[in-house]
Amino acid sequence: MGDVLLDAARSVQANAYAPYSGYSVGAALEADDGRVFVGANVENASYGLTICAERTAIAQAASHGVRLVRRIVVVTSSEPPAPPCGACRQVLLEFGPDATVESVGPRSRKTWRMRELLPDAFGREQLR
Ligand code: THU
Repeated sequence: MGDVLLDAARSVQANAYAPYSGYSVGAALEADDGRVFVGANVENASYGLTICAERTAIAQAASHGVRLVRRIVVVTSSEPPAPPCGACRQVLLEFGPDATVESVGPRSRKTWRMRELLPDAFGREQLR
């Protein structure tokens, strides 16, 4: 069976702007209404202003009105498949507290639930 998110993540990975690390990342997510949004990592000469693929995809989705993400697929050249960085975990949690996160490498794939990637997280509950 085809995987729309995997295909979308693979194709956006080709647009990664990663001249400094040479490490291209593609991410694709499915919103609760079925829409798909993608993002690639966008590096910067200042290094610190680099934006990861996952956060690019979340910003795209949120800008189009998405508030709940069901699933996100990340593609890298890493083996074992790369888990999302700490900053991305916090941002993913905001829009997908129950989301499935999948990372696909050249030879294998790994799946997590958002809650296991960021247990005991600070979130909107604290601000109520
Ligand atoms: N990167 C991502 O896009 N997602 C992650 O979860 C980890 C790291 C990017 C940031 C930078 O452009 C490159 O990978 C190396 O860290």
